[in-house]
Amino acid sequence: MVEFTLPRNSVVKTGKTFKADASARNIRLFEVYRWNPDTGDNPRIDRFEIDMDQCGTMVLDAILKIKNEIDGTLTFRRSCREGVCGSCAMNINGKNTLACTQAIADYPGTIKIFPLPHMPVIKDLVADMRHFFEQYASIKPWLSNFTAPPANAERLQSRDDRAKLDGLYECVLCACCSTSCPSYWWNGDEYLGPAVLLQAYRWLADSRDSNDDERLDQLNDAFKLYRCHTIMNCTDTCPKGLNPAKAIAEIKKRMVASDRQ
Ligand code: SF4
Ligand code: SF4
Ligand code: FES
Repeated sequence: MVEFTLPRNSVVKTGKTFKADASARNIRLFEVYRWNPDTGDNPRIDRFEIDMDQCGTMVLDAILKIKNEIDGTLTFRRSCREGVCGSCAMNINGKNTLACTQAIADYPGTIKIFPLPHMPVIKDLVADMRHFFEQYASIKPWLSNFTAPPANAERLQSRDDRAKLDGLYECVLCACCSTSCPSYWWNGDEYLGPAVLLQAYRWLADSRDSNDDERLDQLNDAFKLYRCHTIMNCTDTCPKGLNPAKAIAEIKKRMVASDRQ
Protein backbone atom coordinates (compact mmCIF):
# COMPACT_ATOMS: atom_id res chain seq x y z
CA MET A 1 0.00 0.00 0.00
CA VAL A 2 1.23 3.48 -0.80
CA GLU A 3 2.48 5.37 2.25
CA PHE A 4 1.84 9.12 2.18
CA THR A 5 3.54 10.11 5.43
CA LEU A 6 7.28 10.43 5.86
CA PRO A 7 8.99 8.15 8.38
CA ARG A 8 9.41 9.94 11.71
CA ASN A 9 13.18 9.77 11.52
CA SER A 10 13.20 11.74 8.25
CA VAL A 11 11.58 14.86 9.72
CA VAL A 12 14.09 17.72 9.66
CA LYS A 13 14.48 19.26 13.14
CA THR A 14 15.81 22.61 14.29
CA GLY A 15 19.49 22.27 15.16
CA LYS A 16 22.08 24.38 16.92
CA THR A 17 22.70 28.10 16.45
CA PHE A 18 26.28 29.35 16.36
CA LYS A 19 26.41 33.10 17.05
CA ALA A 20 29.07 35.39 15.62
CA ASP A 21 31.38 37.35 17.94
CA ALA A 22 29.67 40.33 19.55
CA SER A 23 32.19 42.57 17.78
CA ALA A 24 31.07 41.41 14.28
CA ARG A 25 29.42 44.18 12.24
CA ASN A 26 28.78 42.46 8.93
CA ILE A 27 26.90 39.24 9.67
CA ARG A 28 25.25 36.83 7.22
CA LEU A 29 23.19 33.86 8.37
CA PHE A 30 23.74 30.40 6.86
CA GLU A 31 21.32 27.54 7.48
CA VAL A 32 22.93 24.19 6.74
CA TYR A 33 21.41 20.71 6.51
CA ARG A 34 23.08 18.26 8.87
CA TRP A 35 22.66 14.50 9.13
CA ASN A 36 24.96 11.95 10.67
CA PRO A 37 23.99 8.30 10.06
CA ASP A 38 26.10 7.19 13.03
CA THR A 39 23.97 8.95 15.66
CA GLY A 40 20.51 7.72 14.67
CA ASP A 41 19.24 11.29 15.12
CA ASN A 42 16.88 13.01 12.70
CA PRO A 43 18.35 15.43 10.20
CA ARG A 44 18.55 19.00 11.49
CA ILE A 45 19.19 22.52 10.26
CA ASP A 46 22.09 24.27 12.01
CA ARG A 47 22.32 28.06 11.88
CA PHE A 48 25.69 29.78 11.56
CA GLU A 49 26.23 33.53 11.85
CA ILE A 50 29.29 34.42 9.77
CA ASP A 51 31.22 37.68 10.02
CA MET A 52 31.62 38.59 6.36
CA ASP A 53 34.52 40.92 7.20
CA GLN A 54 36.43 37.72 8.10
CA CYS A 55 35.21 35.49 5.25
CA GLY A 56 35.87 35.03 1.54
CA THR A 57 33.35 36.02 -1.07
CA MET A 58 31.94 32.71 -2.28
CA VAL A 59 29.47 30.33 -0.62
CA LEU A 60 32.19 27.66 -0.48
CA ASP A 61 34.36 30.12 1.49
CA ALA A 62 31.64 30.35 4.15
CA ILE A 63 31.28 26.56 4.29
CA LEU A 64 35.04 26.18 4.67
CA LYS A 65 35.06 28.83 7.40
CA ILE A 66 32.34 26.93 9.27
CA LYS A 67 34.34 23.69 9.04
CA ASN A 68 37.69 25.27 9.90
CA GLU A 69 36.60 27.60 12.70
CA ILE A 70 33.16 26.64 14.03
CA ASP A 71 32.22 22.98 13.53
CA GLY A 72 34.86 20.63 12.16
CA THR A 73 32.30 17.84 11.74
CA LEU A 74 30.54 19.57 8.84
CA THR A 75 30.97 17.21 5.89
CA PHE A 76 30.97 18.21 2.22
CA ARG A 77 32.91 17.65 -1.01
CA ARG A 78 35.14 20.17 -2.70
CA SER A 79 38.42 20.15 -4.53
CA CYS A 80 39.27 22.77 -7.16
CA ARG A 81 37.29 25.80 -5.92
CA GLU A 82 37.38 26.90 -9.57
CA GLY A 83 34.19 25.35 -10.94
CA VAL A 84 36.02 22.60 -12.81
CA CYS A 85 35.90 19.50 -10.58
CA GLY A 86 32.13 19.49 -10.01
CA SER A 87 32.46 18.14 -6.49
CA CYS A 88 30.96 21.05 -4.51
CA ALA A 89 27.51 20.65 -6.12
CA MET A 90 24.74 21.35 -3.62
CA ASN A 91 21.38 23.08 -3.36
CA ILE A 92 21.68 26.73 -2.37
CA ASN A 93 18.49 28.69 -1.75
CA GLY A 94 16.50 26.17 -3.74
CA LYS A 95 18.75 25.84 -6.79
CA ASN A 96 21.38 23.23 -7.53
CA THR A 97 24.74 24.81 -8.22
CA LEU A 98 28.47 24.80 -7.45
CA ALA A 99 29.18 26.46 -4.10
CA CYS A 100 32.59 27.67 -5.27
CA THR A 101 31.20 29.72 -8.17
CA GLN A 102 28.37 31.42 -6.30
CA ALA A 103 29.02 34.78 -4.64
CA ILE A 104 27.46 35.22 -1.21
CA ALA A 105 26.58 38.80 -2.17
CA ASP A 106 24.29 37.52 -4.92
CA TYR A 107 21.94 35.92 -2.38
CA PRO A 108 19.57 38.12 -0.40
CA GLY A 109 18.88 37.27 3.25
CA THR A 110 19.55 33.89 4.80
CA ILE A 111 21.51 31.41 2.69
CA LYS A 112 20.03 27.91 2.93
CA ILE A 113 22.31 25.02 1.98
CA PHE A 114 21.12 21.46 1.35
CA PRO A 115 22.61 18.40 -0.36
CA LEU A 116 21.61 17.71 -3.98
CA PRO A 117 17.92 16.75 -3.91
CA HIS A 118 16.47 13.28 -4.37
CA MET A 119 19.79 11.54 -3.80
CA PRO A 120 20.58 9.32 -0.83
CA VAL A 121 22.61 11.32 1.69
CA ILE A 122 25.81 9.81 3.05
CA LYS A 123 26.40 12.59 5.58
CA ASP A 124 25.51 16.31 5.79
CA LEU A 125 26.01 17.76 2.28
CA VAL A 126 27.49 14.61 0.73
CA ALA A 127 25.12 12.84 -1.66
CA ASP A 128 25.66 9.25 -2.72
CA MET A 129 26.78 9.53 -6.37
CA ARG A 130 27.44 5.85 -7.02
CA HIS A 131 24.35 5.18 -9.13
CA PHE A 132 24.96 8.39 -11.10
CA PHE A 133 28.51 7.34 -11.99
CA GLU A 134 27.44 3.76 -12.76
CA GLN A 135 25.00 5.24 -15.27
CA TYR A 136 27.82 7.39 -16.65
CA ALA A 137 30.02 4.31 -17.10
CA SER A 138 27.15 2.54 -18.89
CA ILE A 139 27.31 4.91 -21.87
CA LYS A 140 31.00 3.99 -22.45
CA PRO A 141 32.36 7.53 -22.14
CA TRP A 142 35.49 7.02 -24.16
CA LEU A 143 36.53 7.25 -27.81
CA SER A 144 35.57 4.13 -29.73
CA ASN A 145 36.77 3.71 -33.30
CA PHE A 146 36.99 0.47 -35.27
CA THR A 147 39.72 1.65 -37.62
CA ALA A 148 43.35 1.95 -36.64
CA PRO A 149 44.67 5.49 -36.21
CA PRO A 150 47.11 6.78 -38.84
CA ALA A 151 50.63 5.45 -38.29
CA ASN A 152 52.56 7.56 -35.82
CA ALA A 153 49.86 10.23 -35.83
CA GLU A 154 46.81 11.35 -33.92
CA ARG A 155 43.26 11.15 -35.22
CA LEU A 156 42.78 14.67 -36.51
CA GLN A 157 39.57 16.66 -36.51
CA SER A 158 38.57 19.64 -38.65
CA ARG A 159 37.90 22.92 -36.88
CA ASP A 160 34.20 22.57 -37.73
CA ASP A 161 34.03 19.06 -36.27
CA ARG A 162 35.88 20.17 -33.17
CA ALA A 163 33.39 23.01 -32.74
CA LYS A 164 30.56 20.44 -32.54
CA LEU A 165 31.89 19.47 -29.11
CA ASP A 166 31.50 22.99 -27.72
CA GLY A 167 28.78 23.04 -25.09
CA LEU A 168 29.40 19.36 -24.38
CA TYR A 169 33.03 18.88 -23.34
CA GLU A 170 32.73 21.56 -20.63
CA CYS A 171 30.43 19.36 -18.49
CA VAL A 172 32.01 18.72 -15.08
CA LEU A 173 29.61 15.89 -14.11
CA CYS A 174 28.38 17.77 -11.07
CA ALA A 175 24.87 16.23 -11.39
CA CYS A 176 23.16 19.57 -10.70
CA CYS A 177 21.04 19.02 -13.81
CA SER A 178 20.08 15.40 -13.18
CA THR A 179 19.10 16.09 -9.58
CA SER A 180 16.89 19.01 -10.67
CA CYS A 181 15.01 16.87 -13.22
CA PRO A 182 11.59 15.59 -12.07
CA SER A 183 11.82 12.66 -14.47
CA TYR A 184 15.12 11.67 -12.88
CA TRP A 185 13.65 12.03 -9.39
CA TRP A 186 10.91 9.52 -10.14
CA ASN A 187 12.66 7.19 -12.60
CA GLY A 188 16.35 7.67 -11.85
CA ASP A 189 16.83 3.93 -11.44
CA GLU A 190 16.35 3.51 -15.21
CA TYR A 191 16.23 6.98 -16.81
CA LEU A 192 19.80 8.08 -17.50
CA GLY A 193 19.09 11.76 -16.77
CA PRO A 194 20.36 14.91 -18.45
CA ALA A 195 24.00 14.78 -17.35
CA VAL A 196 24.63 11.26 -18.61
CA LEU A 197 22.62 11.87 -21.79
CA LEU A 198 24.63 15.03 -22.50
CA GLN A 199 27.76 12.92 -22.13
CA ALA A 200 26.26 10.25 -24.39
CA TYR A 201 25.68 12.88 -27.06
CA ARG A 202 29.22 14.21 -26.56
CA TRP A 203 30.52 10.91 -28.03
CA LEU A 204 27.87 10.71 -30.74
CA ALA A 205 28.91 14.21 -31.82
CA ASP A 206 32.61 13.38 -31.95
CA SER A 207 33.78 12.89 -35.56
CA ARG A 208 36.60 10.63 -34.36
CA ASP A 209 34.17 8.09 -32.85
CA SER A 210 32.67 5.44 -35.12
CA ASN A 211 30.51 3.58 -32.60
CA ASP A 212 27.21 5.40 -33.24
CA ASP A 213 25.18 2.24 -33.92
CA GLU A 214 26.01 0.60 -30.63
CA ARG A 215 25.60 3.87 -28.75
CA LEU A 216 22.17 4.56 -30.30
CA ASP A 217 21.00 0.96 -29.81
CA GLN A 218 21.91 1.19 -26.15
CA LEU A 219 20.04 4.50 -25.70
CA ASN A 220 16.95 3.44 -27.67
CA ASP A 221 14.93 2.56 -24.62
CA ALA A 222 11.64 3.86 -23.25
CA PHE A 223 13.24 4.62 -19.90
CA LYS A 224 16.90 5.39 -20.55
CA LEU A 225 16.16 8.22 -23.03
CA TYR A 226 12.45 8.80 -23.47
CA ARG A 227 11.64 9.72 -19.87
CA CYS A 228 12.80 13.24 -20.78
CA HIS A 229 9.67 15.37 -21.16
CA THR A 230 11.45 18.63 -22.01
CA ILE A 231 10.71 20.25 -18.66
CA MET A 232 14.02 22.16 -19.02
CA ASN A 233 14.99 22.29 -15.32
CA CYS A 234 18.33 20.81 -16.36
CA THR A 235 19.24 23.65 -18.68
CA ASP A 236 17.97 26.25 -16.24
CA THR A 237 20.16 24.98 -13.41
CA CYS A 238 23.45 24.00 -15.12
CA PRO A 239 26.15 26.10 -13.40
CA LYS A 240 28.35 25.79 -16.50
CA GLY A 241 25.69 27.31 -18.76
CA LEU A 242 25.25 24.10 -20.78
CA ASN A 243 22.07 22.86 -22.41
CA PRO A 244 21.48 19.16 -21.63
CA ALA A 245 17.89 19.35 -22.93
CA LYS A 246 19.23 20.32 -26.38
CA ALA A 247 21.70 17.41 -26.29
CA ILE A 248 18.82 15.05 -25.46
CA ALA A 249 16.81 16.48 -28.37
CA GLU A 250 19.81 15.86 -30.66
CA ILE A 251 19.94 12.21 -29.59
CA LYS A 252 16.22 11.86 -30.34
CA LYS A 253 16.79 13.40 -33.79
CA ARG A 254 19.53 10.83 -34.43
CA MET A 255 17.10 8.07 -33.44
CA VAL A 256 14.59 9.30 -36.01
CA ALA A 257 17.24 9.83 -38.69
CA SER A 258 18.47 6.26 -38.20
CA ASP A 259 14.91 4.81 -38.34
CA ARG A 260 15.06 3.67 -34.74
CA GLN A 261 11.91 5.51 -33.63
S1 SF4 B 1 14.44 18.59 -20.25
FE1 SF4 B 1 14.42 16.40 -19.88
S2 SF4 B 1 16.29 16.03 -18.77
FE2 SF4 B 1 15.92 18.24 -18.67
S3 SF4 B 1 14.82 18.52 -16.73
FE3 SF4 B 1 13.35 18.22 -18.34
S4 SF4 B 1 12.83 16.04 -18.34
FE4 SF4 B 1 14.74 16.33 -17.22
S1 SF4 C 1 25.44 19.41 -17.82
FE1 SF4 C 1 25.91 21.06 -16.36
S2 SF4 C 1 24.69 20.60 -14.54
FE2 SF4 C 1 24.76 18.76 -15.78
S3 SF4 C 1 26.46 17.59 -14.94
FE3 SF4 C 1 27.24 18.78 -16.67
S4 SF4 C 1 28.01 20.66 -15.77
FE4 SF4 C 1 26.72 19.70 -14.22
S1 FES D 1 35.21 22.85 -5.72
FE1 FES D 1 35.45 22.12 -7.77
S2 FES D 1 33.65 22.78 -8.77
FE2 FES D 1 33.48 23.67 -6.79
